[in-house]
Amino acid sequence: MIFVTGGAGFIGSNFILDYLSRHDEHVLNIDKLTYAGNPYNLGSLDGDARYHFVQADVADHAKIAELFSRHRPRAILHFAAESHVDRSIHSPGEFIHTNVNGTFNLLEVARHYWSDLEAQQRQEFRFLHVSTDEVYGTLGSDDAPFSETTPYAPNSPYSASKAASDHLVRAYHHTYGLPTLTTNCSNNYGPYHFPEKLIPLVILNALDGKPLPIYGDGQQIRDWLFVGDHCTAIREVLARGVPGETYNIGGWNEKANLDVVRTLCDMLDELKPKAAGSYRDQITFVQDRPGHDRRYAIDARKLERELGWKPAETFETGIAKTVRWYLDNPQWVANVRSGGYLKWLELQYGGKEKS
Ligand code: NAD
Ligand code: DAU
Repeated sequence: MIFVTGGAGFIGSNFILDYLSRHDEHVLNIDKLTYAGNPYNLGSLDGDARYHFVQADVADHAKIAELFSRHRPRAILHFAAESHVDRSIHSPGEFIHTNVNGTFNLLEVARHYWSDLEAQQRQEFRFLHVSTDEVYGTLGSDDAPFSETTPYAPNSPYSASKAASDHLVRAYHHTYGLPTLTTNCSNNYGPYHFPEKLIPLVILNALDGKPLPIYGDGQQIRDWLFVGDHCTAIREVLARGVPGETYNIGGWNEKANLDVVRTLCDMLDELKPKAAGSYRDQITFVQDRPGHDRRYAIDARKLERELGWKPAETFETGIAKTVRWYLDNPQWVANVRSGGYLKWLELQYGGKEKS
């Protein structure tokens, strides 16, 4: 069995669906089911004997220790996190709880479990920590992309909490020899993406006739990767990554936010035209995010060179699949837009319109 934490979230659920379409190994999904966790993402696994779910907080020591001793996993893949930068600016405490204390707790439990294993199982055990490119801070327009040796310089409470968790993972390998793997990935997009993040927010606001909020001048750059390619990279790192190493994952798809939003508008104009005008007419510039990182870009050559991974999707093919998925899944969309979601939109966007 493998453990997956945060498997009801965006990337975790894509990972579990992808993994079980290729392997017969059992998967235990450990998820607290915060606002971002949605068991409905995994509804297609109902009745599948290989899939197991436990609702638990990764920071709950007794519960996590009990799960390790009962199920004796060969690996843990740690996706669970508070993941939204804007929420970390409003309420950083939850980010420290889950991303720092939660990761520390998993490492402690895993260390004790691993140190009691027999020699061969000790050698084969893996703790794979899923992290982000945001730990490296921000780039100028002429800077080289982030590599695995770029110094850490996190700028938001979210990225600082992820940086802290990466450092703990590194220390547990260095000090105790725990066989850890860390991945630092760029911005993902694709099915099951919660509509607080730019791409799904814009698709759904566009269809609802609402403003499409662009922070600041919209010239901030992100390096976009289709979520299925992230899942493939994680499978490769789990299978063949070298313990103690970190691997950057990215799609070589740098785009300015305004260009991404215009592309989405143009696709929707084709697929679901408005009665009059273009979805571009809904673009609205709003107050910038405090401390907003200007540019991220990932150098993924280590992963390509050492493990032979390359993304299968270009931005054009991946974004077409994504827009189509949101149009084809109105039930999922209705399900995630709960009262809590609407309160978040009011807190984040209420009264912020500039033009
Ligand atoms: P998400 O917010 O969609 O999902 C997070 C999941 O973790 C949810 O199911 C939530 O219920 C669960 N969770 C939160 N706190 C928990 C706790 N204390 N105990 C147990 N479960 C808890 O996040 P995501 O976008 O799927 O990101 C997954 C991981 O990938 C995160 O570690 C994130 O930092 C990293 N990452 C994300 C991106 C991206 O673009 N989304 C890019 C690079 C790295
Ligand atoms: O780089 C990896 C990171 O990507 C992950 O670690 C995070 O978990 C994930 O949320 C994502 O962070 P970003 O802050 O880059 O993603 P977000 O979708 O929130 O924003 C993308 C860009 O769009 C960013 O420059 C802010 C901008 N933006 C976002 C929102 C929600 C807007 O202009 N308007 C918006 O309404």
